[in-house]
Parts: sequence; C-alpha cells; structure tokens
Amino acid sequence: MTGILTLQGVVSGYQADLPIIRDVSLGVAKGEFVVLLGPNGAGKSTLVKTVAGLVPMHAGRVTLAGRDITNVPAHQKLRDGLGFVPQTENIFATMTIRENLQLAAQILPKARRADRIEAMFQMFPDLAARPSTRAGGLSGGQRQMLAVARALVIEPEVLILDEPSAGLSPKMVSEVFEQLGRINQTGVTMLLVEQNVRAGLEIASRGVILVEGRVAHDAPAADLQGDPIVSRLYLGGHQPRTKVS
Ligand SMILES: Nc1ncnc2c1ncn2[C@@H]1O[C@H](COP(=O)(O)OP(=O)(O)O)[C@@H](O)[C@H]1O
Ligand SMILES: [Mg+2]
Repeated sequence: MTGILTLQGVVSGYQADLPIIRDVSLGVAKGEFVVLLGPNGAGKSTLVKTVAGLVPMHAGRVTLAGRDITNVPAHQKLRDGLGFVPQTENIFATMTIRENLQLAAQILPKARRADRIEAMFQMFPDLAARPSTRAGGLSGGQRQMLAVARALVIEPEVLILDEPSAGLSPKMVSEVFEQLGRINQTGVTMLLVEQNVRAGLEIASRGVILVEGRVAHDAPAADLQGDPIVSRLYLGGHQPRTKVS
C-alpha cells in the first residue's frame, strides 16, 4: 500500500477475541478525497477510530506521511498531523466557538495559535460571525463546521471525518459537503465516512465500501457510480451516470 495514509492488514476491535475490522488494507494518496461507505454496523466508525488510536489494534500497520504510527497514542497522532472528527461529542457544547478553537489549538506552539484560529474564522464565515456564541446553541450544520474547524486548526496532513452529515437536513448536508470539497482543494487529504452512498460518491474521487469489517470494493468513485452491482446493492437500482467530470 502507498499513500500519505496507509493501512496494511489491520485487524481491530473492542475485545481481543472479537475482531470487528478483519484484515483491512488501503492507501489514501496525498490530496485525495476518499469516501468510506458501507451498511450500518459494517465497522466504518471502528476503522477510523482504530486509525485515530481510539480502538485497540490486534494486527497490522498504519503509516502517516511515511511514518509508522501503529503504536502511537491518540494525542500524539494529532501532533503527527492526523485530524479526526468523531461522529459524536466532537465539540464542547458549553464553551463558545472561540473557546472551542482555542482549546483545539493548545497543542500548537504558542506563537502559531492566534494565526491558525484566525485562519479558521476566514475559512468559516458562519463561525466568524458569532465567536462568542456557545457551541450548544448552534444549528446542526454550524456545529459540524465547528467540529471540522477544531480538527483543521492544527493544519493536519490528513482529515478523517466520521459522518459529519448525520442528522442534518439535505440542505445542510450539501453546505457541509461543499465546504469539505473546498477544504480538500486547499490540499488537505480527506477520508470521509458517509452513510449516503450516492452523496458520498458525488463528492469523493474514490470510494471504499466496507462490509462486515472487510473491504468489499475499492475503486474510483465514477466506477462505483456506474457499477450495476454497487448500484443495485447500495443505490437502490441502476442509475446511469449523468455527471460529466
Ligand atoms: N464501543 C463498542 N464496544 C463494543 N462493540 C462496539 C462498540 N462500538 C461498535 N461496536 C460494534 O462494532 C460493530 C461495528 O460498528 P461500527 O464501527 O459503529 O459500524 P458503522 O460505523 O459502520 O455503522 C458493530 O457490531 C457494533 O455493535
Ligand atoms: Mg458509524
């Protein structure tokens, strides 16, 4: 496997005798936007939490920018350039937007913190408009953007997001996805977990479909969109591709 993020033969799970992820290998190239898809319970969250160092790994190897981070603790992975937005509890609801960003920026050298927080306000005007608002009072979409900003404040090499679209209205989902596309265009490598196969394949350049803890498909998004089997299984019938890219 090659790429800025690589997984080789990863086996992981919450208990030693009960692997959830069973021998997953995949590579994410620098600048790539990969979407991780699969049915509920397939192990998508477990896989990304394993990469982030939050679920015990039983076998395999993970590298980031050529460095072995298999046994690196979660907080150190942040410093090594791995940004992770968990599916839940990804902001501090009782703290303001600015305080959330300040806390996330703590691991940066003091001299860089203010600049990075300012950069996040530039990138997310919705957050800049209300820096003193408590995060708990934000809309679902704004909360997700704050969670993304908290991960981006450290300028990660790779940004991993676990279903940032969960619970959002379709309009908000497209806003969040547009923002993710823009972030990717600034050069941040993305690995996005997504429930909605169609929306995920629209935004990403490559799709990985996880089924029962194994990679069932790994192909360019356009190929998966045009694949009749993938279409039938995950998209509710074959839909000819209309998007020209
Ligand atoms: N904290 C946990 N402890 C034990 N088992 C878990 C835990 N979280 C998830 N699982 C189990 O791991 C499997 C994969 O779950 P998950 O990774 O959340 O799937 P997905 O994100 O694809 O919906 C499921 O069988 C689930 O019950
Ligand atoms: Mg999940």
